[in-house]
Amino acid sequence: MRLIITDKNVGHLAAFFVKERMAAAKPTENKNFVLGLPTGSTAIDMYKSLIELYRRKEIYFDNVTTFNLDEYVGLPEDDKESYHTFMYENFFKYIKIDKKKINIPNGNAPDLIKEGEEYEEKIAKAGGLDLFIGGLGENGHVAFNEPYSSLSSITRDKQLDKNTIIANSRFFGNDPTKVPKTAMTMGMQTILNAKEVLLLVTGEKKALALKHLVEGAISHAWPATVLQMHRKLVVIVDEASCNELTLKTYRYFKRLKDEFSHIYA
Ligand code: GLP
Repeated sequence: MRLIITDKNVGHLAAFFVKERMAAAKPTENKNFVLGLPTGSTAIDMYKSLIELYRRKEIYFDNVTTFNLDEYVGLPEDDKESYHTFMYENFFKYIKIDKKKINIPNGNAPDLIKEGEEYEEKIAKAGGLDLFIGGLGENGHVAFNEPYSSLSSITRDKQLDKNTIIANSRFFGNDPTKVPKTAMTMGMQTILNAKEVLLLVTGEKKALALKHLVEGAISHAWPATVLQMHRKLVVIVDEASCNELTLKTYRYFKRLKDEFSHIYA
C-alpha cells in the first residue's frame, strides 16, 4: 500500500494520477484503458480536474472504457440522484467518449444476480479493470460493499447499511426514508482483480475507516481492509482523514519520497 498524505486537493492529485497511468498505458482502439469510476462527493473534484485536463487537451477518452462501481436499485436512471445522472452531470457531458463504452450497473434489471454476473463478464471481456478508483465509506465500505460483505464478492445487489443510508440522505432532502435500501455494486473480488486500485479519502469523518484500512487487521467488518492484499494500492488522503492514524504510521508515509511533487508545480 502507498499512502499519499497531501495538503493539496485530493481530487486534483487523483486526476493527474489517472492522466499519468493512462499516458503510460498508451491505449489504442483495440486495447482500451479500462477505468472503474466512482460517484460520491470526494470524486467530484477529480472529475472537475479531469474535465480541465481534457479542455487543455492533456487527456483524451477516445480509447477508454469505463465501468461504474455501483448504482441504486429501483431508482429510475433519470432520477436526479441516480448514479447514471451523477456521472452524466459531473463528467460525461463534458468530455468526448463513446456512449457504448460507458457501463453503469442497471439497478432496474429484472434479475439482479444475472445483471451482476453479466457485468463481470463485460469487465472481463474489456480486458479487466486497469485502474479502479473509489472512495471510502465512513463504515469502511468501498463502492457499496457494506460491513460483513463477502471479501470475495462479485457484482451483485447489496442491502445498504443504516449508516450509509443516513450519510447519503443528504442527497435525498435529508430524509433517510427516501434513500433506496439496496444497490448494485462491484464486489470486493471485482476490486481485487483490478490491476491497480486508487482510493480517495478526505475529511475527519473518514478517519476511523482510514485507520482500519491502513493499520487494522483484514476483516469483513471493515471491507476496505481486504485491499491490503492488493499488489498495487494507492490511497490519496488529506490531513484531516489521518486524525486516527498513529504518529508512527503518519510519519512513515510522510517521510517517503513524494513521487507526485512534479504534479503540484
Ligand atoms: C457512497 C458510494 C461510494 C462512495 C462512498 C463515499 O455511498 N456508494 O462509492 O465512495 O459512499 O462517498 P463520499 O465521497 O460522498 O463521502
